[in-house]
Amino acid sequence: MADLKAAVLISGRGSNLQALIEACANPDYPAEIVLVISNKPKAMGLKRARKAGIDVRIIDHRDFDSREDYDESITQALEAAGTELVCLAGFMRVLGESFVERWRDRVINIHPSLLPAFKGLNTHERAIDAGIRITGCTVHFVRPAMDDGPIIVQAAVPVLPEDDAKILADRILVAEHKCYPMAVRLIAEGRARVVNEKVSFDGAEPAEGLLINPRDDTAR
Ligand code: GRF
Repeated sequence: MADLKAAVLISGRGSNLQALIEACANPDYPAEIVLVISNKPKAMGLKRARKAGIDVRIIDHRDFDSREDYDESITQALEAAGTELVCLAGFMRVLGESFVERWRDRVINIHPSLLPAFKGLNTHERAIDAGIRITGCTVHFVRPAMDDGPIIVQAAVPVLPEDDAKILADRILVAEHKCYPMAVRLIAEGRARVVNEKVSFDGAEPAEGLLINPRDDTAR
């Protein structure tokens, strides 16, 4: 079967893009990155894409009068590259409803919390302030509302007593870099699809075991 043609949309560092680039370097991986789009000309992720020999486009939202025109320009670039799956990876622009409907069930996003908790920005600060013991990350299909849509993969990550937002973000990022390539693989292999606004799996084993934080002393 031909590799799924994925495009990755970024605004910054691009560490999730890097995780996808590295996954795609494996000949057994069922997807390839055909295009990277950034709305920021100086995004560090652009360097990662160029180094990997991937086509890049800078589509700067400041060059457009309306969201519709901006989204349309992105759609044109995606179509020209033959994109089958759009991966948002730290892309800091909200895409409009008509874009999301145009690409329905073909746009996914990664968010650094266990959705539906802590949608939006500053997730790590808010998680620490709330005193939660377990947080994580989520890869989900995109719907018009922010950080909303059928969930594909989640990973649980403990919050530790000395954490600040940076330390916690770095711990979650390790999980993100596993989850994003995994979600793309499940989609590319046709093993994850949306049925009645939930993701239904074909041949993906559910995880077992508990993550309890703090550690359960009685279990020692
Ligand atoms: C990640 O934490 C991702 O979950 C969030 O933005 C961050 C992007 O990081 N949506 P990077 O650009 O992939 O390094």
